[in-house]
Amino acid sequence: MRKKILSLLLSVAMVASMMVPAMAEETTEAAEAAAAVDMEGVDVENTKIGISIYKFDDNFMTLYRTELVRYLTEDLGFKEENITVTDGKNDQAEQTNQINNFITAGVNVMILNLVQSSSAPQVTDLCNDAGIPVVYINRQPEEAESNRWADEGIKATYVGADARQSGTYQGEEILETSNGGDINGDGKVSYIMVQGDPENIDAQNRTEYSVKALTDAGVEVEELLLQRGDWDQAKGQQIVQDALTQFGDQIEVVFCNNDAMALGALQAIQAAGRVVNEDIYLVGVDALTDALQNIQDGNMTGTVFNDHIGQSHMAADTAVKFLKGEEVEPVIMVDYIKATADNAADILALLQ
Ligand code: GAL
Repeated sequence: MRKKILSLLLSVAMVASMMVPAMAEETTEAAEAAAAVDMEGVDVENTKIGISIYKFDDNFMTLYRTELVRYLTEDLGFKEENITVTDGKNDQAEQTNQINNFITAGVNVMILNLVQSSSAPQVTDLCNDAGIPVVYINRQPEEAESNRWADEGIKATYVGADARQSGTYQGEEILETSNGGDINGDGKVSYIMVQGDPENIDAQNRTEYSVKALTDAGVEVEELLLQRGDWDQAKGQQIVQDALTQFGDQIEVVFCNNDAMALGALQAIQAAGRVVNEDIYLVGVDALTDALQNIQDGNMTGTVFNDHIGQSHMAADTAVKFLKGEEVEPVIMVDYIKATADNAADILALLQ
């Protein structure tokens, strides 16, 4: 396992030297801290951990939860039989039920990917009343809520990534193309936006900041369509298929809030006989293996690595801090990394 972590660090360092040094250094630091977390005084034999994922049927969160459980057991030494992972089935009532069951079962800490981040105040109170610390992941509760944890000394925190950064990187990837996204040379970039679940801050911020990167650079933009695809590949495909029928060659850029939807978009683009990086650009977020391979093959313009490794390790380490009674910041962010043809191979190596 040491080896795996080392190769991970090396690869991150490699990516760092190629792309965004300051940022990837922090990711490396996060991984280093993760590898070195002090387990002294933690009862790894008996500690019970309750984990709930908003739904199992989500490509990115499947990678995340797999790595989280692997890290907790293989690297930190917790017992598999003491870790319960439940499927929230995209239903907050169902998930709240699971959280109540965790309380009854007497878990020592919870790691929660809420179905609705707006339910954080209620869930936090449930956990706090039961004296159980909680690490929220992936779906960020509102700032007022995380401020409340800090103000009232509640043992709750959010570990995630700042979606504004991923949106900005998507916009930059378009700006970095040979024509800055203006394929037809009419002085503006005409795009469609395939959005995740709009209740989710990741979806809101990626939508806003991808376009903001263009307008901040003084580029004129035209939004042809914005539609929700709920992070789902099949929905992404349908939306882009319909958009290509409606707007045809007018579409120069397809922004997708995640890679699953971008992979669906790619199917629609290819079926319509359009050629990515020649007559249309396509960007996503997450750095799923399929997306990275398509970037290498020239079928996608770029993506942004949503570092599920750094995030899951940080979430687990933070849970350990709670178990040890240490102070924890209310919000902990792990950096995104830009992923284009220049470094797709390095990120693929990191994921292997
Ligand atoms: C995002 C990720 C999406 C989806 C979503 C779920 O961070 O990019 O692919 O997993 O989280 O909340």
